Amino acid sequence: MIKFLDIQAMNEAHGTKIEEAILRVTRSGWYLRGEETRRFEADYAHYIGCRHAIGCGNGLDALRLIFRAYIEMGHLHEGDEVIVPANTYIASILAVTDNRLTPIFVEPDAQTLQIDETLIEQAITPRTRAILIVHLYGRCAYTSHIGDLCHKYNLLLIEDNAQAHGCSAPPTFPRKGDHTQSTSPQGEVVRRARTGSLGHAAGHSFYPGKNLGALGDAGCVTTDDDELATTIRALGNYGSSEKYIFHYTGYNSRIDELQAAVLAAKLPHLDADNHHRATIAELYYRGIDNPLIHLPRHVDPEHNVYHLFPIFCDERDHLQQHLKAYGIETLIHYPIPPHQQECYKEYAHLSLPITEQIHRTELSLPIGPTMSQTKVQEVIKAINDFKLKDYPRITK
Ligand SMILES: Cc1ncc(COP(=O)(O)O)c(C=O)c1O
Repeated sequence: MIKFLDIQAMNEAHGTKIEEAILRVTRSGWYLRGEETRRFEADYAHYIGCRHAIGCGNGLDALRLIFRAYIEMGHLHEGDEVIVPANTYIASILAVTDNRLTPIFVEPDAQTLQIDETLIEQAITPRTRAILIVHLYGRCAYTSHIGDLCHKYNLLLIEDNAQAHGCSAPPTFPRKGDHTQSTSPQGEVVRRARTGSLGHAAGHSFYPGKNLGALGDAGCVTTDDDELATTIRALGNYGSSEKYIFHYTGYNSRIDELQAAVLAAKLPHLDADNHHRATIAELYYRGIDNPLIHLPRHVDPEHNVYHLFPIFCDERDHLQQHLKAYGIETLIHYPIPPHQQECYKEYAHLSLPITEQIHRTELSLPIGPTMSQTKVQEVIKAINDFKLKDYPRITK
């Protein structure tokens, strides 16, 4: 049996450090808004290359808090339009609509799977205020053209970095005069342009299966903007920055000390874990050779931390069945695009053929920091053995 992702093995690999962290927090008697949170926020801000990391309950909340904070700060207003990729996990869109903002769906490029930069400008209207890019599958969605459009139309650039911890922008970034050259809380200048530091603010998820995963729900916002950071911190604490004084009608969305301590213990291993993922991806790119299977464009591992390894097949469900017969677990990311979900009936009329095609044909292969090369070769062999004649019900 080849698991899609062996989360147990991933955490066992850092078992002693995680157990030490848990024991330390348990014995401390302090479980929220303490030293562990401060330390993780400082470490993560430094890693991403931003002045601030603000822990919160999960990745959806991180994005919701960003949009809500911009509303409180007067930069966004109800009904403003936010350009979003049409192919994403629904949380990206929920964060927009939950704040009564209007998502404008833009098709992805079928090769990169990221928002198609050439289609963005025509989607901009006088009501457009922001672009949300999603580094989906662990691939960098930023392009210098997107940066230029944000400058030209004075738009906020918000990143959904839930799937891309450790990913970096292509060499065209940072450009002169941009706001991303940042000083870490430790006073060190950070030059690496990681995703999560490319725009005005970014939401991160530490859901257990993510590249940096907690032992439950957790998330954070990164930003260089001091006012935004203060507003988000208050919003996530019922709307209060001073005990029992409420500036906003806020939420309770905080990272707890246990999750912060576990994440701080795992963070130093993130680059090595991502490197292992890239090695597996390289084997898949070299080994998969089947005319029925299409692979997305191969990009430099710096710009892809391989949170997922998506492949595409017109007979996706048969392929999944075939791999299951070989004992290989796969998942679909995602079977139904946001605009076709029942909760978004108002967008059901949209025709987004590239998005729909991606959702109809995508299959994610096993990949993770503890997967062995032998298992990767087993997956490759099973994929290369897939033939349509084994599935006579297929009508072409
Ligand atoms: C692209 C994307 N955005 C947002 C989220 C939401 O994160 P969370 O599950 O922590 O709320 C996820 C996670 O599943 C995601 O994959």
